[in-house]
Amino acid sequence: MQIKADGRGNLQNANSLNPPELRRVASKGTAKGRKMLNYIKLIALGLITLCAMIAANYARDLAYLVHALIITLVSGGLFLWVLRGTGDEKPELPQNEYMDGVIRYGVVATAFWGVVGFLVGVFIAFQLAFPVLNFEWAEGLANFGRLRPIHTSAVIFAFGGNALLATSFYVVQRTSAARLWGGNLAWFVFWGYQLFIVLAATGYLLGGTQSKEYAEPEWYVDIWLTIVWVAYLAVFLGTIIKRKEKHIYVANWFYLGFIVTVAMLHLVNNLTIPVSIFGSKSVIVWAGVQDAMVQWWYGHNAVGFFLTAGFLGMMYYFIPKQAERPVFSYKLSIIHFWALIFLYIWAGPHHLHYTALPDWASTLGMVFSIVLWMPSWGGMINGLMTLSGAWDKLRTDPVIRMMVISVAFYGMSTFEGPMMSIRAVNALSHYTDWTIGHVHSGALGWNGMITFGALYYLVPVLWKRERLYSLSLVSWHFWLATIGIVLYAASMWVTGIMEGLMWREVDANGFLVNSFADTVAAKFPMYVVRGLGGVMYLAGALIMCANLWLTVRKAPARDASLSVAVPAE
Ligand code: HEM
Ligand code: HEM
Repeated sequence: MQIKADGRGNLQNANSLNPPELRRVASKGTAKGRKMLNYIKLIALGLITLCAMIAANYARDLAYLVHALIITLVSGGLFLWVLRGTGDEKPELPQNEYMDGVIRYGVVATAFWGVVGFLVGVFIAFQLAFPVLNFEWAEGLANFGRLRPIHTSAVIFAFGGNALLATSFYVVQRTSAARLWGGNLAWFVFWGYQLFIVLAATGYLLGGTQSKEYAEPEWYVDIWLTIVWVAYLAVFLGTIIKRKEKHIYVANWFYLGFIVTVAMLHLVNNLTIPVSIFGSKSVIVWAGVQDAMVQWWYGHNAVGFFLTAGFLGMMYYFIPKQAERPVFSYKLSIIHFWALIFLYIWAGPHHLHYTALPDWASTLGMVFSIVLWMPSWGGMINGLMTLSGAWDKLRTDPVIRMMVISVAFYGMSTFEGPMMSIRAVNALSHYTDWTIGHVHSGALGWNGMITFGALYYLVPVLWKRERLYSLSLVSWHFWLATIGIVLYAASMWVTGIMEGLMWREVDANGFLVNSFADTVAAKFPMYVVRGLGGVMYLAGALIMCANLWLTVRKAPARDASLSVAVPAE
């Protein structure tokens, strides 16, 4: 079924529109304009290719050289592609259809990068248990230190980022009854973002990093991401501005909060001065403790806006859709939004307890983190209670089960976080695996599961299938992932508290009882359990990929003749 938006913002079946409306004939004026645009593109791409070739020639380090070559190849390839297409009569894009092609690509990219990120996660988990896996022949490329940022960036920015791109493009169109603004700009955002991911990952492998956690890419990659992000904001905001629905649905508030704040965080945390225009190294403008504070203001808000606000946008759209119930309380969702964004932005200093940070700043971070518990749970309650009157679906629909467990993990990690931000508790948890357990109950449970739920919802809709290929495979995925998370988080809580207690144990004379190596040895069994949890989580994701693939290939197609006019969602 092809859904189209009519002038009043209602969506209707493509078949109900008469053929002349669908005929897309490019007028002479627009053909001329397109030709002009192509020439501009050719000049820009030619210049970029030339500059990248010069940069490769003068490169001062390996990461920079490889990046310059990648950019030469990409821009050179695009130059040829645009050149070949110049002069071709291209059909005008249908303006009364949703732009779903880019979302389909986003769905595939989410699944692909998810598997890559989980695979690297499993490998580094076993590297920590069995250090021999840091192969000598791969030293400097595939040792733990190089692979860890690849894991974190792959799961957060590639898996999570693509999920956010794809779902935000889907949700904003459906809830605004408008096609994405900016024509092919959405495609630029998608491919530009994939280029950012490739540049970041290859940079880490080759040692190109500015050593800021979750903000490792070097200065020129940061500049590229800024360009892509501004385009993303323009597409999203442009679509909201041209919406045919009077109301801006709350999911869009969360997505917009995420896009705007991430832009601000990225800019402030990456204010660096390159050492050379031909090298990847740069120097940050912030000094000493200010740098640490800016980094963790960024780091915590990356959690708050990338891993939370954006994913709450997903929750507010996909749970009501899958449960076929309205949001439990719209009023609560608005209070949730404003409280969350106001409080999150102050909580960063809880990452820097007992450091050179002034006491007042650390206390401020702690207090705001504790208060943050309330709006977080407000959101959780709103998500869960949306199922009021539809709780039976938990038994029959494994996709809903996945979404509900994700919200439950959201609740769990947003209780644990405020607790860990209390200075006395942080004295025990900081530097230990407790933090890693907290991260992954949030990341695997909340971000992972809500994304899987959204993918299960989206694939049949986007590929026009009647249903998923197999619900029992979804159940398998659910149980493997859930048990995997429990193994991961529980083993990390145990090792975390154990090592925290071992580090502070003193004998009668006040001497430390345990050496650092003692704690490492004691953690071994738990590291193996964590690795196995990761294997289960990865296995579940592979089952999902197979199920989604089979849905596209084998599930029965949706019967177009049955479709009727549907109001804007
Ligand atoms: C198969 C699943 C996964 C496994 C086995 C895994 C494993 C790991 C390991 C071993 C580390 C390093 C821990 C250390 O340095 O002690 C790590 C770090 C991290 N992972 Fe994962 N991971 C998985 C999935 C994810 C996902 C889905 C996300 C986010 C969406 C994520 C986010 C992170 C983050 C943010 C860190 C850094 C934590 C910190 O520095 O405190 N991981 N992961
Ligand atoms: C109310 C909500 C939350 C609060 C107050 C909170 C608080 C904290 C605290 C106190 C730490 C330990 C800092 C340290 O000792 O260095 C931490 C670490 C972390 N949390 Fe949370 N958390 C919350 C929710 C979440 C959620 C939902 C996620 C993931 C989706 C998450 C991801 C992380 C990550 C990735 C780190 C590790 C940062 C690092 O690399 O050191 N947090 N959080």
